[in-house]
Amino acid sequence: MKQRILGQMGTPVSAIGLGCMGMSEFYGASDDEQSIATLARALELGVNFLDTADTYGFGHNESLIGRLLKDLGSARRSAVVIASKFGIVRTPGAYERRIDNSPAYVRAACEASLQRLGLETIDLYYCHRRNPEVPIEDMVGAMAELVRAGKVRQIGLSEVSESSLRKAHGVHPIAAVQSEYSLWSREPEHGLLAACAELGTTFVAYSPLGRAFLTGTVNSAALAAGDFRKHNPRFSGEAEAANAALVAGLGALAAERGVSSAQLALAWLLSRHAHVVPIPGTRQVKWLEQNVAAVGMTLTTAELIALDELFAPDRVAGARYPEAGMIGIE
Ligand SMILES: NC(=O)c1ccc[n+]([C@@H]2O[C@H](COP(=O)([O-])OP(=O)(O)OC[C@H]3O[C@@H](n4cnc5c(N)ncnc54)[C@H](OP(=O)(O)O)[C@@H]3O)[C@@H](O)[C@H]2O)c1
Repeated sequence: MKQRILGQMGTPVSAIGLGCMGMSEFYGASDDEQSIATLARALELGVNFLDTADTYGFGHNESLIGRLLKDLGSARRSAVVIASKFGIVRTPGAYERRIDNSPAYVRAACEASLQRLGLETIDLYYCHRRNPEVPIEDMVGAMAELVRAGKVRQIGLSEVSESSLRKAHGVHPIAAVQSEYSLWSREPEHGLLAACAELGTTFVAYSPLGRAFLTGTVNSAALAAGDFRKHNPRFSGEAEAANAALVAGLGALAAERGVSSAQLALAWLLSRHAHVVPIPGTRQVKWLEQNVAAVGMTLTTAELIALDELFAPDRVAGARYPEAGMIGIE
């Protein structure tokens, strides 16, 4: 597995990570044994960068990863880079959230995550969403204290603006920024990606497959009732029809090359810059293996131009979150 570098400490991570969120919530029912098998296969394939958060399944996701880590010997365990997040506070069963960035909350959330993961140190600890009422310097100051206490190795921010990144980096090196980035979500190209490259901050691309829409394997009619995507504007009505036409174009380009749409979407992300690390999520070994194979692909200039034209931002329809999900996104 090819590697990329995480943050200013130069930590090697696999060129794609594994997003674990769907193993606990948001994308329909999951099976823990199947998820553990997928996680174990990821490690076998050299995927050593696992992404979780305290809010995914209200602690379930971190506990699941804790279960995986417990069964590994210490050498294998220390080769795995675990990223988790704090800051989104929800009531079980509800999607609505509030954001807590207070220093006391940062400390308490970290202790709870360490417990669930069964770790003494979290390799990468992100602020999941910003609450502008807490100065970023105060919040990052609290995160830096966790580094000094040995509870966290490196720190990151999710869905922040370039200006917040720069302010935060003035307090403590920001090893990673994690934001939505894919063929149909291009906001990071307006300054954030360049700022990350300048500061030695790794850019972790979440939802790199557009929550499966870009793979051409899902549509809203086939989603289960509790699936979060049923309420995502891009999966609804006219927007879905417009976006499906782009995905059909992606499928045609992928077929020309003899790869899957998912592979083409991931190879495109990997081509953007050496500091971009996509973290596709999956609960299935077959998708994991397919996604890992994208790491070896190099796209031609003609393919890159065709993809850029196909997914010109004004051709993508619908917001990337329902209104309740936009809170804390800068
Ligand atoms: N920082 C944040 O605010 C934030 C927000 C969202 C997500 N994330 C992180 O980013 C990770 C990835 O994002 P995501 O899970 O939202 O979206 P994603 O990676 O774009 O898509 C995941 C979906 O695609 C499916 N899939 C994966 N590979 C496939 C393939 N080769 N062919 C067909 N379908 C495929 C998965 O299916 P199955 O699971 O059914 O196999 C899953 O339903 C999450 O797991 C989470 O760790 C972070």
